[in-house]
Amino acid sequence: MQIIDGKAVAAAIKEEIKAEVAQIIDNTDESPHLSAILVGHDPASETYVASKEKDCKSVGMMSSVYRLSERTTESELLETINFLNQDEEINGFIVQLPLPRHINVEKIIGSIDPKKDVDGFHPYNLGKMMLGQESFFPATPYGIVELLRRYKIDTAGKHCVVLGRSNIVGTPLSVMLSRKSDPGNCTVTICHSQTRNIKEHTTQADILIAAIGQPEFVTADMVKEGAVVIDVGIHRIADQSKRSGYSLTGDVNYNEVAAKCSYITPVPGGVGPMTSVALLMNTLKAFKANRK
Ligand code: GUN
Repeated sequence: MQIIDGKAVAAAIKEEIKAEVAQIIDNTDESPHLSAILVGHDPASETYVASKEKDCKSVGMMSSVYRLSERTTESELLETINFLNQDEEINGFIVQLPLPRHINVEKIIGSIDPKKDVDGFHPYNLGKMMLGQESFFPATPYGIVELLRRYKIDTAGKHCVVLGRSNIVGTPLSVMLSRKSDPGNCTVTICHSQTRNIKEHTTQADILIAAIGQPEFVTADMVKEGAVVIDVGIHRIADQSKRSGYSLTGDVNYNEVAAKCSYITPVPGGVGPMTSVALLMNTLKAFKANRK
């Protein structure tokens, strides 16, 4: 069994991005610039946005955050998006989710200029991805595909079972892995809340991707001997033996499952760091495309 070290791969990619950004700055006196719009004060969102700023800084990119109050109206948010759509200094931006309930998320995502949609959530980018055309891939699926590529895990002809059909992970990933691409060319099964006998599917998987949002859902009896297991979940579990009072776990019961796998991603240190670095890859790509 080999542990897929997402932290190390993400650090290596960051070094590559840093070198490319340094060269861009040398040649053009410009640097890629990522912005985030943060509505309200959700603590998890505050943490995500702060870590995105830190990531940008670590590779020499510029970043900025537009903070709006919890009571911001939809039209005020649309005005901010429109401002960023127009601002030539900003190559890409994200609207941090979740948004307050009075704001229509679909309308907001649909108003982002697809050329600056580095989250890859706009229907235009998702549609292009589905057709195998150049687009921004959503960060988590992009990070996972990059992990498979860098570990040279053979995907062609393999049966990949994806647990979860979210718009930002399960659905796009199932498309990316089924397309005629490398990594790709998988036969893909998606399981979701209405799937019967999930275990019958998961035990057929050469590659099992758990993005179901339930702590330690995948147990050893659900996994085929020699499978590649990718764990997208991250959950805080009360743990009095830790100074923080909690430990982190994924959608996979790692202690049980690891022994049966050929490869497995740990939590933390697997998919998470790859998601962060994928946003930087998209921002660099947006910068380069804007300059053409
Ligand atoms: N909230 C949690 N993850 C994400 C993400 O990848 N992008 C955005 N915009 N919001 C999030």
